[in-house]
This record gives sequence, structure tokens and C-alpha cells, in this order.
Amino acid sequence: MPKPNTPQVVLVTGGSSGIGKAVCAYLAAQGHTVYGTSRKPAGQAEGYQLIAMDLADEASVNQAVAEVLANSNRIDAVVNNAGLGIQGATEDLTPGQATALFDTNVMGAHRVVRAVLPQMRKQGSGLIINITSLAANFGLPYRGFYSASKAALERYTETLSMEVKPFGIRVASLQPGEYKTNIGANRIRPAQTSEPYKAGYNRAMELLGGSLHYSRDPNEVARLVERIMADPRPRTVYYAAHGKQRLAVLLKKLLPGRFFQRLMMQEYK
Ligand SMILES: NC(=O)c1ccc[n+]([C@@H]2O[C@H](COP(=O)([O-])OP(=O)(O)OC[C@H]3O[C@@H](n4cnc5c(N)ncnc54)[C@H](OP(=O)(O)O)[C@@H]3O)[C@@H](O)[C@H]2O)c1
Repeated sequence: MPKPNTPQVVLVTGGSSGIGKAVCAYLAAQGHTVYGTSRKPAGQAEGYQLIAMDLADEASVNQAVAEVLANSNRIDAVVNNAGLGIQGATEDLTPGQATALFDTNVMGAHRVVRAVLPQMRKQGSGLIINITSLAANFGLPYRGFYSASKAALERYTETLSMEVKPFGIRVASLQPGEYKTNIGANRIRPAQTSEPYKAGYNRAMELLGGSLHYSRDPNEVARLVERIMADPRPRTVYYAAHGKQRLAVLLKKLLPGRFFQRLMMQEYK
């Protein structure tokens, strides 16, 4: 791996908004060569290059990685950040909607991993950071498929980490709590909410809208990404979360399942 504090070539998926944009701008300001991605047309952003990539399209992912290699000849780190949210009572969401979510949040990251691993193996070094979510640890009411997609990405990351270690490639996951971004506006939603779920769903969305509005600065996640990049032996999982949100991860491990569910539902009353 490059020596700590030396400039690295970094690919960050989803560099047009929210956490990814903050990571790109922060790493670029630290002197790294940064490529962010977006489904929209490519261009120059705050100190970094924004290149076109649609995670749902393997050819587009391969093309974006080829562009990075053509310009920089190497890829030291990849931050699999791009992702979608989803909201709705589980019964109301169609399998097609859930599949679209998994296609972006899980298979999208997998497409990127497949595109960069041959180069990282050739280099004998590389770092892959998968941005999952605190939601990977528990089923969130009315966001169950989001939790499921992030839990799937966690297990994927764990396996990948063991398989590519012999090639000098480090893999870690980073679980953010709530950060102030555009994720709420872009969530997949059900066509309609059926009557029995209306009250609970509306209450949950009201709470969620309020807490996201007051949530934290994505630059915190950007600083954590740089810390992971500088660590020759990163941990398997990092948390970017505070207070009650961070405590919930510990409680989930310690408390009997039904008791934890009661605590969770109290939050949504
Ligand atoms: N915000 C939070 O509280 C929070 C908490 C935990 C985890 N996370 C995770 O953090 C990551 C970033 O989310 P965010 O909150 O920053 O959301 P955001 O502001 O909505 O940004 C999402 C980014 O993903 C990109 N993207 C979405 N679908 C894509 C696709 N099919 N192909 C390529 N790019 C795609 C978007 O780029 P274009 O639209 O320009 O293509 C955008 O740059 C996600 O994985 C999310 O699950 C967020």
C-alpha cells in the first residue's frame, strides 16, 4: 500500500451529493487524486473529477473504472458509497421495488468490486470501503428492505475481506448513523400506503423527516474515511454514529430480541 500521508488515487461512487460529495471534496483537499461518480453527465467538481457511472449497468461501471485507470494508472482506494433508500410498509412494497433497491445497494457495489479487483491484485494492494448503515444491525420499521440491503452488504463485505487479504487488499465497512443529505428525497416509495399501516407509517415518516432534518454533517464521515485509508490494518467495521443511535447497536447485541423490538417501537410511537 502507499505510505500513509502520500497522495492516493481514490474512486468514490456517488460523488454528486451527500456523504459521497463530502468524502470527495475532503479527500481532494487533502491532496488525493479523487474520482467521484454520478449518473448525470461528467464534469469537474470541487477539486475532483466527476465521472459518469450507473451502478445498475455493468458496462457503465467498467467504463468508469477504465477511465480512472487510463488517467491515473492505479486505484489505491474505492469507497462504495452510492446507494438508495426505501420507505413503506413491507407488505406495500413490490418485489420489483425491493429488487431495484438491492440491485443498487448490493449488486452495484459488487459490480464496482469486480471491476477494480483485477487492478488491485496486480498492484498487490488496495483498499475497499463499503458504506453500509447503522440500519444493517436491526430491522427499522417501514424501512425493512433498506436494513436488509445494508445487512446483505455487511455480510458480503465480511466475506470479501477474508478472500482478498492474501492479495494485500484491505476491506472494511463503514456504518453511518443519520447524516444530513438528500437520501430522504430519493427513497423508493410504495404506490400507496394501505389503510391498516397508514397511522404507523405516517408517524414513522414524520419522525424520520424531523430527525434527518437535524442530523449530522457528512464531513464527519469524510474524516473517518481518510483515517481508514491511513491505517495499514483497518478494523472490519467502523461506526459513524453517536448517542442513542450508537447505543442501539450495543443494545441489539445484548438484549433479548422482543425487548429490543419493544424499545424500537417506543421510538416510533
Ligand atoms: N444520509 C444518511 O443518514 C445515511 C445513513 C446511513 C447510510 N447512508 C448511506 O450513505 C450512502 C450515501 O447516501 P447519502 O445519504 O449521501 O445519499 P444522497 O445524498 O441521496 O446521495 C446518493 C448518491 O448515490 C448516487 N447514486 C444513487 N443511485 C445510483 C446509481 N444507480 N448509480 C450511480 N450512482 C447512484 C447519487 O448520484 P446521482 O444521483 O448523481 O447518480 C448520489 O451521489 C448510501 O449508501 C446510503 O445508504 C446514508
